[in-house]
Amino acid sequence: TDAHTAGPFIAAIDQGTTSSRCIVFDKDGRIVSVDQKEHEQIFPKPGWVEHNAAEIWTNVQEVVAGALSKAGITRDDVKAIGITNQRETTLLWDRATGEPVHNAIVWQDTRTDALCRELGRNVGQDRFRRETGLPLASYFAGPKVRWLLDNVEGLRERAERGDILFGTMDSWVIWNLTGGVDGGVHVTDVTNASRTMLMNLHTMAWDDKILTSMEVPAAVLPEIRSSSEVYGTAKGGVLDGVPVASALGDQQAALFGQTCFSEGEAKSTYGTGTFMLMNTGGTPVNSYNGLLTTVGYRIGDQAPVYALEGSIAVTGSLVQWMRDQMGLIKSAAEIETLALSVEDNGGAYVVPAFSGLFAPYWRSDARGVIAGLTRYVTKAHIARAVLEATAWQTREITDAMTKDSGVELTALKVDGGMTSNNLLMQTLADVLDAPVVRPMVAETTCLGAAYAAGLAVGFWPDTDALRANWRRAAEWTPRMDADRRRSEYKNWLKAVERTMGWIE
Ligand code: G3P
Repeated sequence: TDAHTAGPFIAAIDQGTTSSRCIVFDKDGRIVSVDQKEHEQIFPKPGWVEHNAAEIWTNVQEVVAGALSKAGITRDDVKAIGITNQRETTLLWDRATGEPVHNAIVWQDTRTDALCRELGRNVGQDRFRRETGLPLASYFAGPKVRWLLDNVEGLRERAERGDILFGTMDSWVIWNLTGGVDGGVHVTDVTNASRTMLMNLHTMAWDDKILTSMEVPAAVLPEIRSSSEVYGTAKGGVLDGVPVASALGDQQAALFGQTCFSEGEAKSTYGTGTFMLMNTGGTPVNSYNGLLTTVGYRIGDQAPVYALEGSIAVTGSLVQWMRDQMGLIKSAAEIETLALSVEDNGGAYVVPAFSGLFAPYWRSDARGVIAGLTRYVTKAHIARAVLEATAWQTREITDAMTKDSGVELTALKVDGGMTSNNLLMQTLADVLDAPVVRPMVAETTCLGAAYAAGLAVGFWPDTDALRANWRRAAEWTPRMDADRRRSEYKNWLKAVERTMGWIE
């Protein structure tokens, strides 16, 4: 933190999977202050994951106040607020009281697995792919809305009467920030909407045919807006009167924060999960290799920019699982020390298919495995295998990107919390056989939201000004020999096979 930077500033709120945070940025895109708070992960049944949305909104208010106070500034110094968020996590709430009708169903939750199979019956997993760019999978929001309407007593009638609002976390935060029951605006942006499986990628509007098939009443839906424009102003709270000027799903925000504004530019963000996005310009490119077609961003009334995405459900959350469920480490950082205490994985492979497998497989019936165990294997080998799991999952996605785009990977731009793990970054360069580079500001998710908000209010003139802020901070180059890479990859793929078909 550098409390001496001169204002004005932009504040970004990142409502993430495990925590909410607020970061204040200055004109050079430098971090002035950060505040962060974790919220509870609720696991009611195997495969189910929920969040308490009221707790999240309280945390958001606290971290905003915290970040402003750490920076020693007030709302008068803040020119705009940007929002970014965990995507797909689904909430329905009462328009009149502001009360959520149920916990939010988190993107990792697999309860809609059977429903998705039913929706794809006789047609297949790609039933809505042409319109939405997505395969039918429990990951996306639309089926979660349907599940809530079918399972919460009396909810469908209330929804059809127009008493209920749907939103991903961007909508929930913006509605509350702009007044909630007292005139809050009910909007979402194109990137978040593109993950509902209810928006048509080609028209950027809700798709009536899909709404009918999914049995979701249009009355619950927010208005779809661009990612960079003023939606309204904050009402009450420490930001009272400040324009709310951007919203992007966290992965799209990271693409923006890494200034991947040209076709072919890509980034990979290492958080709870890992998500690689490649800018494909003005055209939505179809994937034939298990990637998603999604909206990258849309600035005001300019044409939308599309992206190809490789989504990995479990990376950082595997380290958390090692810490919280297994008790093998006390802090997330300890994984690196433990893994460094041995030379290799001792023959063990961990495939964290906790939410089924995402890209490139899209198998909701997969569940995690630890393969290759012998009496020789220690927790240190498992720690190594845990880090390698993130690297190999990335490799599978970069392979798919190369096949879909025809562009050979020359370097990977990375960001996110896990990039502070040096061993992981080296392993990543080794298994990709390509250099891995990290920018000065690794908090690119918040930075992207701040950039989009700043553009909307004229704080920054254009995307070229943003590009000038990107600076390389670290680079890892491949060191693994080709034979070893080949045999390890083969073992990894064998372990992946063992996860499939676990759920009947
Ligand atoms: O699609 C899910 C993604 O948006 C979650 O990101 O960083 O909260 O793991 P993160």
